[in-house]
Order: sequence, then structure tokens, then C-alpha cells
Amino acid sequence: MNVTPFWLAGRAATGDGELTVEHPYDGRVVGTVSVPTPGQVEEALAAAHAVRAEAAALPVHVRAEALAHVSRRLAERSEEIAKLITAENGKPLMWARIEVKRAISTFRFAAEEARRWSPTTQRLDTEEGGVGRMAYITRVPKGPVLGISPFNFPLNLTAHKVAPAIAVGAPIVVKPAPATPLSALLLGELLAETDLPAGMFSVLPVPNDRAGALVEDPRLPIVSFTGSVPVGWSINDQVPRKHVTLELGGNGAAVVLPDADLDWAASRIGLFSNYQAGQSCIAVQRVYVHRAVYDEFVPKLVETVDGLVTGDPWDDKTQVGPLVSQDAAERVESWVGEAVESGAKILAGGTREGAAYAPTVLADVPADAKVAREEVFGPVLLVQPVDGVDEAFERVNDSTFGLQAGVFTRNLDIAFRAHRELQVGGVIIGDVPSYRADQMPYGGVKDSGVGREGLRSAMADYTEEKIMVLTGLPL
Ligand code: SIN
Repeated sequence: MNVTPFWLAGRAATGDGELTVEHPYDGRVVGTVSVPTPGQVEEALAAAHAVRAEAAALPVHVRAEALAHVSRRLAERSEEIAKLITAENGKPLMWARIEVKRAISTFRFAAEEARRWSPTTQRLDTEEGGVGRMAYITRVPKGPVLGISPFNFPLNLTAHKVAPAIAVGAPIVVKPAPATPLSALLLGELLAETDLPAGMFSVLPVPNDRAGALVEDPRLPIVSFTGSVPVGWSINDQVPRKHVTLELGGNGAAVVLPDADLDWAASRIGLFSNYQAGQSCIAVQRVYVHRAVYDEFVPKLVETVDGLVTGDPWDDKTQVGPLVSQDAAERVESWVGEAVESGAKILAGGTREGAAYAPTVLADVPADAKVAREEVFGPVLLVQPVDGVDEAFERVNDSTFGLQAGVFTRNLDIAFRAHRELQVGGVIIGDVPSYRADQMPYGGVKDSGVGREGLRSAMADYTEEKIMVLTGLPL
């Protein structure tokens, strides 16, 4: 099998080590990736640092065209790339195809936002001392970005780090998840086809124990991390003077109220607690159903979950495939076991085969069980009756996480109340918390992180305002 090179300051390179990528469904080797030496990492960081002024001064049409090129090439090679995602991550092809489509949009949105990214002005004659003066305000890159991307969306969550950096003219160094480096390396290949200057991007598949040195390097003043809660917050603690964006975990809640379309709610919750085998930070994990419709809703939910097509991720019809590893599936199994020992009832699923865990519905879960309090990151949901909106919102907020929440209602007053009262980064009315449009702000509160992704938000995050005051104007 050919060794996939990494990307060092815009060119393909090989190092002195190798990383093997295995397919989660059957353990077969799907790729071997070259690992950079410490000297090569140093070269990439030095190049990012050296090119930062040139990158910031790149005309917008050059940045936008590079982004549009990546978007077009992803579209042209979409089926091949979807298969690469399935091979390294194990997610069923249907979800891999959706991820590629989203990455095409992510780069296209970035190209569009880059063209809209204009300076603003502010009049200063609002006070006597400002007569004849005006502020001209631009946003300038804070410097090169370190993007650390996760295994669960190896292409699109890498795109969410890379595309806004290029849009604002910031060099980026990507460290992909060791389990799934192939999609990020493919992005490197597409970026290498553009006219971006050398040094503007590197993709360095180093093991996690070498990430600390990247995080600490002063030449990378921005760290954008997506991954686990403990690692994310430890990065924040490690470099308190850097600008750190954290997209961390969640235990997504959905509320079902009596005015909801129960068939729609059951079909969406059933599917989106199990998509990607639950390995999404906004998968549905906790479902609070108004007591008036609980008995009608739960059988519909169980029927949806039982009806999901599980198995081989290469089969076009498969909706739920394996988790990323057998260890991950065993952890989920042990958490469900712990809940059952403390009184939870299994309404669907509850079995494991290798790295695959069956889509599972639990009822009567004690409030302190791990599946209620932690992030399961597996195909498991718990359903619980509540007496009304007050109790439902209290339970949603009774979590250390706060990423997104879904509220199935058609009542606008309740929708606005949810937006006001739920302690999350995003409230989705009439759908699951798992809904994400790549152009909208995305991120959490509490343990779920800090900062927002979504092209415009990430572009703001990677930059800071710089003003020039013009004096003596005939205003
Ligand atoms: C995540 O798992 O945080 C990303 C979810 C998504 O992009 O849909």
C-alpha cells in the first residue's frame, strides 16, 4: 500500500515514521500515512510564521478563488472522497456523502464571505471633539492558526478550521485526529493545486502526544480545537494568553410538547440520536416528552429506532454503522450496563457486536447515571416524561454541557422562551439539536466550549479590529 505524504508548507513530504489507518468495521488497513519528524514540524511552523504578512496582504480574489477551487474539486471528486471518509471513519456512505456535500458548501460559503469581508467606517462627530473625524475599521488576522480536528467529521470539521483561515488571510497548520488523517491530507492535496503562497498551509499528522508542543508554540497564536472536553479545557489552561476556540462535547436534549407533530418528532429524534453511530456532539441523547403525549410518542420513537438499517457502512442503505473502535463500543456498553443496574429499562437495542452498538432507547434512567450526565458519543438515547415546559427546560439545563437543544413545538411564545431560557449555544425549534447549517454560528456554553465556528463567526474569531482615524475631513 502506498504511503500517503503529509503537507509541509504547501508541498508533499514524507518523514521518518508511519501511521496505520484501520477501517472500524472490519479492522482492515485502509491507509498508511507518513509522520513528520520534529525538524519537519519546525519547518512548517517557521514557514507559517514567515508568510503571515504576505498571507494577510493577499488580494481577496486570490483567497476567494483558492477557496472556490477547493469547493469545486471536492464536488468533482465527491464520491471518491465519501468513500475515503467511510474507509477511515466507518460512517455509512450515506452520511459520508452528506459530509462531502457540507464541505463543498463550507468552502463555497468561505469564498463568498471573503468577498463580503470589507472594512467599515464609524463617524466620530457624535461628540464635539470628533468633528471632522472618522474611524476606518478593518479586521486583521491575529496570526497563524493551529487547527486540531476530530475523527467524527474528518473532512468537514477540518474544513471549518481551514476555510475561514484562508478567507481572512491567516496561515493554518492542521493536526488531524490520528484515527482519521486521510480526509485532511486530501484537503491538503486540493489546497496544493491553488495559487496560495508556500507556508500558508501544512497538514501534519503527528500523534497526540506531540500536539502539546504545537499548542505551546508562540508562532501559532490561535488554537482552534474540536474534540473532547478534558483535552479542550486543558489546552485553554496550557496557553491562557493565546486565543483558543473550543468546540467540545454535548449531551444534546430534545423536548417534545403536545402541539408537536409526533410522527415527525419521533422520526427525527430516532434518526439523529443514531446518525454516525451517535458520534456527533449534537446527537440527541436526552428526550423530555410532555406527559400528555408520552404514551403515544414513545412507541413511535421505539418503532423508528428499531427500524433503522444497521450494519455494513459500504451498503447504500445502512443508516447506522460501527463506532470508531471496539473500545468505544465497549465503553458505551458499560455505561448502558451501569444505567440498567441502577434501574433503567431498555426499550430498544442494548447489544454490541465488535465495534457496532445497536441503536438503543432507555427509559427510567436515574438522573446520576453516566448516560444521563456525560456525553455518550454512541447510539443511545434516554426518554423521560415531564409535566410541562418548566420542568422540560429545567431538565435540559441540568447539564454541564450546553451546545444545542431542540424543541418540538409550533408555539412561537414557547420558541422565544426556549431561546431565552435554555443554556445552550443554539436552540432549534421544530427539529433536533443535531441540525447544523454550516454558515450559521455554531458552538456552546458551559463545558461545551468557547467561541463560535460557522464561516463568518470563525473569520471574526481569527481576526481583530484595527482602526485608523482620519482627521480634518469636510464632514
Ligand atoms: C460536532 O460533532 O460538533 C459537529 C456536528 C456537525 O458539524 O454537524
